Amino acid sequence: MENTCRVPKWVLVFCMVGFLCSGFIQCGVTYDKKAIVINGQRRILISGSIHYPRSTPDMWEDLISKAKDGGLDVIETYVFWNVHEPTEGNYNFEGRYDLVRFMKTIQKAGLYANLRIGPYVCAEWNFGGFPVWLKYVPGISFRTDNEPFKMHMERFTKKIVNLMKSENLFENQGGPIILSQIENEYGPQVKELGAPAYKYMTWAANMAVETDTGVPWVMCKEEDAPDPVINSCNGFYCDAFTPNRPYKPTLWTEAWSGWFTEFGGPIYQRPVQDLAFAVARFIQKGGSYFNYYMYHGGTNFGRSAGGPFLTTSYDYDAPLDEYGLIRQPKYGHLKELHRAIKLSERALVSADPTVTSLGSLQQAHVFSSETGDCAAFLANYDPKSAARVMFNNMHYNLPPWSISILPDCRNAVFNTAKVGVQTSQMEMQPSNAEIFSWETFNEDLSSLDDSSAFSAPGLLEQVNVTRDTTDYLWYTTSINVGSSESFLHGGKLPTLIVHSTGHALHIFVNGQLSGSAFGTRENRRITYNGDVNLRAGANTIALLSVAVGLPTSYTTRHFETWNTGILGPVALHGLDQGKWDLSWAKWTYQVGLKGEAMNLVSPTGISAVEWMQGSLIAQKQQPLTWHKAYFNAPDGDEPLALDMSSMGKGQVWINGQSLGRYWTAFASGNCNGCSYSGTFRPPKCQLGCGQPTQRWYASYGWL
Ligand code: GAL
Repeated sequence: MENTCRVPKWVLVFCMVGFLCSGFIQCGVTYDKKAIVINGQRRILISGSIHYPRSTPDMWEDLISKAKDGGLDVIETYVFWNVHEPTEGNYNFEGRYDLVRFMKTIQKAGLYANLRIGPYVCAEWNFGGFPVWLKYVPGISFRTDNEPFKMHMERFTKKIVNLMKSENLFENQGGPIILSQIENEYGPQVKELGAPAYKYMTWAANMAVETDTGVPWVMCKEEDAPDPVINSCNGFYCDAFTPNRPYKPTLWTEAWSGWFTEFGGPIYQRPVQDLAFAVARFIQKGGSYFNYYMYHGGTNFGRSAGGPFLTTSYDYDAPLDEYGLIRQPKYGHLKELHRAIKLSERALVSADPTVTSLGSLQQAHVFSSETGDCAAFLANYDPKSAARVMFNNMHYNLPPWSISILPDCRNAVFNTAKVGVQTSQMEMQPSNAEIFSWETFNEDLSSLDDSSAFSAPGLLEQVNVTRDTTDYLWYTTSINVGSSESFLHGGKLPTLIVHSTGHALHIFVNGQLSGSAFGTRENRRITYNGDVNLRAGANTIALLSVAVGLPTSYTTRHFETWNTGILGPVALHGLDQGKWDLSWAKWTYQVGLKGEAMNLVSPTGISAVEWMQGSLIAQKQQPLTWHKAYFNAPDGDEPLALDMSSMGKGQVWINGQSLGRYWTAFASGNCNGCSYSGTFRPPKCQLGCGQPTQRWYASYGWL
């Protein structure tokens, strides 16, 4: 439908009384080649991702209202299967996982929602959003034409759809949801895996459509998406994207506003000028829906960060920072961009652009409707030089790599490179929280074989044993060393070599820390090679393997099959007998740390052990130490963060709630500010080299 009010006069009456539905005016949400159509009206929709478990419910209203003030129409969120169904058949929609409350908060603000059910989400979220138990369903293979997988995917998708329906949350029920997504970035898999992948993708699309939500389904980055599902784009730029059918609208479901960080890596930023340029370029080509991924990134609380090695902060350089504060000039400049786009909306939805050249690297895109609306976008693609162009007999100055928006085809109300908004500088100030006492509890390393431990010949894969209930798995073995060994009489010490598939490793010999090794996100495998102090007789070698987030990746097929933990070989070298391979020795396994088993972090479990008094600084740092302190909540309601820069690696809780994993890993890399990196990449901006990647840990909501 081109224009709802260009219909016979008697229908016009209906138009005026507010789009009552009839055979002529379509109610609910549909689409055509130009746009998503809501209650008969084509819309240019401006959207932003806010993931509900990455903030606290107390923050949602404020985040959504700031998003609305920033000019957004839609909030996009993934649905995170693994938090909703932590064990098979047992659901959790409480607290940060209260999806219904989040949707109703969006609705209350008068915004729309795009519900990306997935249920594969990637999202830098542990295991890409899949519950770990799913991996252990007999005969399962993820994201392919596999019956057990499809059965569970369909069951969960329907669970969410039915929950939304039962709360009247779809648009045609009066709710906020105007779009839904099934799967995520499946296109590369279809290319790589061929027929079975294509079959699965088609099944997923049909299964979704059959749930009959009354709103269109989207597949992000899936150029084969079958009708009526809309294929959408993601990336730093999406102006080269066209949907797979001429009757589908051009949607950009992930416009990357910044980037995520990994422990040991720099902080990435995306200049708002470039982001605004990318958005304007998408709109001038006829795009009608774009979504900032992320608008508010937030925090990966607990062990929700994916991996390996993604940071607890998911700030993402988004317009709203991790704490929900407005980041300027990003927020304000985009707000002005949105205003300019909205002023052009009528022309944008009614006409296709006419493109004319204004110079070798300059163009005009003009949208001019039959009803007299006219909007123009004047673009200068030259990354280095400004241009003075002539358009409709007027001169316009275009800075390098910029687009001016003329909502009336005359007055440039906005240029993507001209930032008028002041820059804000967030600074952490010490709070007046008074810390009373530091107390410690050392993990007991001497008695590993307690009742929960078990033994097996050889080395076991970590997640198969822990089922990801903890980051930690102990591998312990015992060796007998003869008293005639030459190293005991002044010779060279033997060396222990441990090969691990990741992610971090501590070696204890006879209860003493002997060494550690860490992987990286790019190379999670580690090899430890170090001298070991053995004694004549029995020796205990205890290897503590530490997982730092399960993979999320879409680039590798079947990431669920990636191994974690020590799979060997493990060998002692330099003994009189030569190499002693321990890979097939009897190993004793213990899942998790003692303090975890005793739930020391909970207000009830905290008194289960004798804590040692003493100042944190004064104590010799033991490996595997629990630290606790009491403090008075500081005054005021400003966001709070904990400075963890004096600590090593671990997890931190306040009042029983996990703030996430911390690690004082220093950012390596080349931090030369921002440099131009080619037409299809945003300028590369890296910060923070030589500093801990993450020093501050968001503590809001837990006091
Ligand atoms: C996309 C993916 C998102 C997120 C993003 C990077 O490809 O769909 O879930 O992982 O990359 O932040």
